[in-house]
Amino acid sequence: MTCTVAAWLRDDWPALTGAGFFCGVNWGSLAAIEGILQMSRVCVVGLGYMGLPMAAILAKHGHDVVGVDINPEVVARVNEGVCPFVEPGMPELVSEAHASGRLKAVGVPEAAEIFVLSLPTPVDHASHEADMRFVEAGAQSIAAVLQGGELVVLESTSPIGATRRNVVEVIEGLRPELAGKVDYVFCPERAIPGNTLKEMIGNDRLVGGLTPRAGERAKALYASFCTGALLDATTEEAEMVKLVENASRDAQIAFANELSLVCDRLGLDVWKVIQLANHHPRVNILTPGPGVGGHCIAV
Ligand SMILES: NC(=O)c1ccc[n+]([C@@H]2O[C@H](COP(=O)([O-])OP(=O)(O)OC[C@H]3O[C@@H](n4cnc5c(N)ncnc54)[C@H](O)[C@@H]3O)[C@@H](O)[C@H]2O)c1
Repeated sequence: MTCTVAAWLRDDWPALTGAGFFCGVNWGSLAAIEGILQMSRVCVVGLGYMGLPMAAILAKHGHDVVGVDINPEVVARVNEGVCPFVEPGMPELVSEAHASGRLKAVGVPEAAEIFVLSLPTPVDHASHEADMRFVEAGAQSIAAVLQGGELVVLESTSPIGATRRNVVEVIEGLRPELAGKVDYVFCPERAIPGNTLKEMIGNDRLVGGLTPRAGERAKALYASFCTGALLDATTEEAEMVKLVENASRDAQIAFANELSLVCDRLGLDVWKVIQLANHHPRVNILTPGPGVGGHCIAV
């Protein structure tokens, strides 16, 4: 419901006022609608390949956005209205968001109603574990400005339990008086560079609230721009699903690459083999490539 309402609000909401308009909408959904109509002050921590598009999209959809990055060059570029990396549509979107006055960048977090953590989670090659220091540093930095009543969203690809362990416990360790007063949710980002803006808006989203209220608040935020379905999950389910998606993709890429090596050894044309095999109604082998990598699908 939230999603459908959001879809038409996105185009028409400035023209829609008056209680009569909401006739027929159930009251549970109304809370989400109010969240959309109010538009929030959102602090996006980490202005990289995922965080800056998210910040710029939120600004385009009426939110007042403060982007935070520890890299002063990134902060300076964004404050000039320039996207510091190559991504289709981003130069125009960042320039537009900057010109609207709804996107600014800073080096340390400022008070806001909603915090989105979009921080790196690389794999530590010695331990083969996710390096959560960036997320913990981000949680520490927002702990200083939380007042109670905020929503904190972790979007980084993270191990099971990370939202509680690396965000909630870090914040409550520094600010014990905030226990039970801040809403937390894990909403993994599933976009792919090269098509980030389209996917960030159009992909279905997992919403893993630590509490139902946290989930509803996060859904109101995403419904303000997302045209995909907003899927309820527990926090740990959402963390697991994101890793399962990546693991599945990783295995499929590995299969295609292994097949390429095997065909090479046998003197067979791997492209033709895959093309013919993919005629099977339940086979869909990927295209082989030079390898696999990135934060999400670890090398
Ligand atoms: N890039 C992708 O294709 C992709 C897709 C889906 C999910 N993800 C996940 O999203 C998360 C972010 O990935 P990314 O590709 O945007 O990373 P990135 O490296 O492009 O950007 C991260 C940004 O965070 C900043 N940063 C680091 N520590 C900080 C701190 N304490 N406070 C403020 N800023 C800080 C860095 O300077 C950098 O600009 C990762 O968990 C990644 O796995 C990435």
